[in-house]
Amino acid sequence: MSLSTISTLVGTFAFLLVLSSAKRYEPNWESLDSRPNPKWFDDAKIGIFITWGMYAVPAYQGPWFQYWWHTGRKNETEFMKGNYPPGWTYADFAPDFTTWFYDPDYWADVFQDSGIKYTVFVTKHHDGYTLWPSNYSWNWNSMDVGPKRDLVGEFVTSIRNRTDIVVGLYHSLFEFYNPLFLQDQKNGYKTHQFAKQKSMPELYELVNTYKPEVIWSDGDWMTTDDYWNATEFIAWLFNDSPVKDTVLVNDRWGNNIKCKHGSYLTCFDQYNPKVLQTKKWESGITVDQCWSYRREARAIDYLPIDEIMTRLIQIVSCGGNVLVDIGPNKDGMIPPIEEERLRQMGAWLKVNGDAIYKTKPWMYQNDTENSNVWYTVSKYQDPPVVYAMHLGWPEKDTIVLGSPITSSSTQVTLLGETVPIKWTSGGATGLTIQVPVIIPTAEKLIAWTFAITNLKN
Ligand SMILES: *[C@@H]1O[C@H](CO)[C@@H](O)[C@H](O)[C@H]1NC(C)=O
Ligand SMILES: *[C@@H]1O[C@H](CO)[C@@H](O)[C@H](O)[C@H]1NC(C)=O
Ligand SMILES: *[C@@H]1O[C@H](CO)[C@@H](O)[C@H](O)[C@H]1NC(C)=O
Ligand SMILES: *[C@@H]1O[C@H](CO)[C@@H](O)[C@H](O)[C@H]1NC(C)=O
Ligand SMILES: *[C@@H]1O[C@H](CO)[C@@H](O)[C@H](O)[C@H]1NC(C)=O
Repeated sequence: MSLSTISTLVGTFAFLLVLSSAKRYEPNWESLDSRPNPKWFDDAKIGIFITWGMYAVPAYQGPWFQYWWHTGRKNETEFMKGNYPPGWTYADFAPDFTTWFYDPDYWADVFQDSGIKYTVFVTKHHDGYTLWPSNYSWNWNSMDVGPKRDLVGEFVTSIRNRTDIVVGLYHSLFEFYNPLFLQDQKNGYKTHQFAKQKSMPELYELVNTYKPEVIWSDGDWMTTDDYWNATEFIAWLFNDSPVKDTVLVNDRWGNNIKCKHGSYLTCFDQYNPKVLQTKKWESGITVDQCWSYRREARAIDYLPIDEIMTRLIQIVSCGGNVLVDIGPNKDGMIPPIEEERLRQMGAWLKVNGDAIYKTKPWMYQNDTENSNVWYTVSKYQDPPVVYAMHLGWPEKDTIVLGSPITSSSTQVTLLGETVPIKWTSGGATGLTIQVPVIIPTAEKLIAWTFAITNLKN
């Protein structure tokens, strides 16, 4: 055998080996959980959650309006009596969901300015109304009733055409009042008609049509993942779907799964444990106190920007991603206060983004002595940069940090400023920074970021 034949054979074997090692995932959680997360997600850190649907028409008390009204809660009952004629049904709201001012290009530009890196767009909430012309929706979708538009499709096109933001989609497995679901429920979930004919086909349709790179599942708590055949879908998603190499899924696939399985954990709404988590996680922050648009919101109900950024900094320090939730109204407008918060967030990130994107948790999440300071460390820089984020404008002349151990070559800079930073070593541990005189900007009122290199730890 000639040398070249041997090398060809070796090459062929190597090629076959690569082919066979393209791992296929089995439809069980152990196998699915063994898949390494696509890298982009942990680097991205910040996404936007867009909770939008038919409930933006009554626009009272959020996306559960239909349920509270039908189960006779006082506020919703009185609201309907006071504002709509007797006999009104939830479907009667549809003609008023005009989305007349919906301009997804404008949304895309706002999101780009806000520094978010991925979206989670609600395609169907628990009321079952789909924001795309689903083949499984009868007429309860945005093409047949309401706007007569493919709201999801237009969104996806604008985001991809104008930004580098990754498209992810939210989908509710269960629906409050779908007759097929109610029948399966009555049968103790021993039948699967709703899962088989409605929810799961919708998910395949969404993936094949819009190629989202996050599937954010919800409405999972009624029953277990077996009913939905969730692992079957996720195995397809990871093995054979058009987004198999880049997609991630959250953890809401059954009442036995949440906070346990999936590419990352969401656990509870507004989750902020303030300690390092072992598995990748993500936390939603609602800018208003409610997930979707509501007419009764007052200015005071919206989180101030420093509160949003404080949570964001704490969550990222502890290894989490953040989803900032907004609720557009029935006209397709983002409430101006929410748009302003997004732009404020972007302004801070423009100066301090190095401390957030493409970072990982440091050995300390918060400083050992200074409760105002939270840390991250760069993932891809050599030597690594430790970022110390000080919440708020410093009230004293000095900032004491207890956690870093300095060396003779340690350097400290303040992101966004050229002024040299004077500091003294605390010896065995820590350092004391002289607070420099700088012009107070809106960004510096939120948090200061010190970049520290060449530490001993
Ligand atoms: C009902 O409305 C009142 C007045 O707006 C409000 O204070 C209360 O929290 C509401 N109740 C519920 C259950 O949402
Ligand atoms: C819906 O079904 C029609 C006819 O089978 C097909 O052409 C279309 O692509 C389907 N739509 C989606 C979104 O899958
Ligand atoms: C993409 O954006 C460009 C520039 O704004 C615009 O001219 C073009 O029509 C857009 N394409 C689509 C498919 O929306
Ligand atoms: C689950 O998925 C498998 C494989 O696609 C299929 O054979 C089975 O019928 C599904 N079960 C249910 C309950 O949908
Ligand atoms: C910060 O770190 C200290 C330990 O150095 C710990 O006792 C404290 O509870 C931590 N968390 C917060 C939120 O300050």
